[in-house]
Amino acid sequence: MYYQALVNKKHRYQEKMFVDRELIVAKDIDEENIEIEKKTYEAYISLKDFVYEEKGYELGLDSAYRSLSYQQEIYERFVSDYGEEYARGVVAPVGASEHHTGLAIDFSIKKNGKFTADNYELMKDVIRYQEIVPYLSLFGFILRYPKGREEITGYPYEPWHIRYVGVELATKLYQENLTLEEYYQSLSGVLVVNKEKGMTSRDVVNLVSQYFYTKKVGHTGTLDPLAEGVLVVPIGKATRISEYLTATYKEYIATFQLGLLTDTLDSTGKVLEKSDVLDDVDMNTVLKSFQKTYLQEVPIYSAVKVGGKKLYEYAREGKMIVLPKKEVTIKEIELMDEENGTFTFRCVVSKGCYIRSLIRDIGESLGTYATMLSLKRTKQGEFSIQQANSLNDIRNGNISIFSIKDALSIYLQISVDEALEKKVRNGVKLENIYEAEGICILLNSKGETLAIYQAENEVLIPLKVLYSAND
Ligand code: DAL
Ligand code: ZN
Repeated sequence: MYYQALVNKKHRYQEKMFVDRELIVAKDIDEENIEIEKKTYEAYISLKDFVYEEKGYELGLDSAYRSLSYQQEIYERFVSDYGEEYARGVVAPVGASEHHTGLAIDFSIKKNGKFTADNYELMKDVIRYQEIVPYLSLFGFILRYPKGREEITGYPYEPWHIRYVGVELATKLYQENLTLEEYYQSLSGVLVVNKEKGMTSRDVVNLVSQYFYTKKVGHTGTLDPLAEGVLVVPIGKATRISEYLTATYKEYIATFQLGLLTDTLDSTGKVLEKSDVLDDVDMNTVLKSFQKTYLQEVPIYSAVKVGGKKLYEYAREGKMIVLPKKEVTIKEIELMDEENGTFTFRCVVSKGCYIRSLIRDIGESLGTYATMLSLKRTKQGEFSIQQANSLNDIRNGNISIFSIKDALSIYLQISVDEALEKKVRNGVKLENIYEAEGICILLNSKGETLAIYQAENEVLIPLKVLYSAND
């Protein structure tokens, strides 16, 4: 389940992010049973014990998990007790409450031997609630509705409402003084995803977009539904550097069948031709003969455009078209396995190379057909499958994301001081005192990637400014 979920008035509670959630029963301050997510409860107990040791304050649970109907009840109770305007201000509309997640807690501190859940009474004791804030992140909690962020969170200051997000994120948010909303708004970086078979690259983008609450998500180097493996997904400001992430070389492992031809050149297509299996093919030698630069015909089932129209559109209309040829380089190629006319190989190829076409060409060189059965991208430039996040990692928020700086580590990186930072943010040309050649990355003292520049002899010329003077 997704411990980093954002729930507010704009991003409503989504049951599907909590499918495997385990709710347990705990006692509230009135000794009534309430439900709460298991890990959140364990973290809360550790926090409670710690606060008691450190401060001698006794914490109690006022509210945790709330179903949609329970939130409705609370809202109605507030309307009848305090009037509609007040209720609308302090109680979340049904579906917009974090309490639906089971990860939010309203706690109370015992005062004169008694707990209270009354907001007005709690506010009188606000100093003691504030004293607990520095401990929250140690146990994975954040103060969810801090003072001064009302416009951002959509709710007035609530010193008693804490939210479990896990220690790592809680620590980051506390140290950088960010609300969950601000964290997602400012998030940028590169996520390497291990795409599963059957999904389109767009499906992956949509999933990442849902879990990171941003439309600023892209991908570099499309993988067809049949293919799996490394899909590089820039998020936030990183979507603006896509062209620098589209590496020149990619590594694939592919399996093909000899003696078979389909219209799409892969196993998803219509069978056009079949021929007998060839005996005694020395496939490794054949493959090695393709370790070269050659003109490769683009497959008709591809998004390459001719005359403003995608090739697959011509194919679907049954129109004849001369297929364009592109220069490609097969840098490495080797046989990994063979079995009854199917062959598996590993290759490293240049940008724009179609493995389906390479396989067709391998077949042709033997005077027969060949069709791709499976394809896995194991590397795109610096990003390898070992670093890739599975779709379940994304759904569980268990991800590692490259900063823009790390994603661009192949380029020269130059740190600038405050005075130069101002110039960079304004896209001013700089003197090339760094002996830079080609593309270079300019960072500020915090390690943020401010801009991408290009060295031209004595000057550095801005290509892309990621943080401008207005950011
Ligand atoms: N009091 C918070 C905003 C809620 O109702 O979820
Ligand atoms: Zn609350």
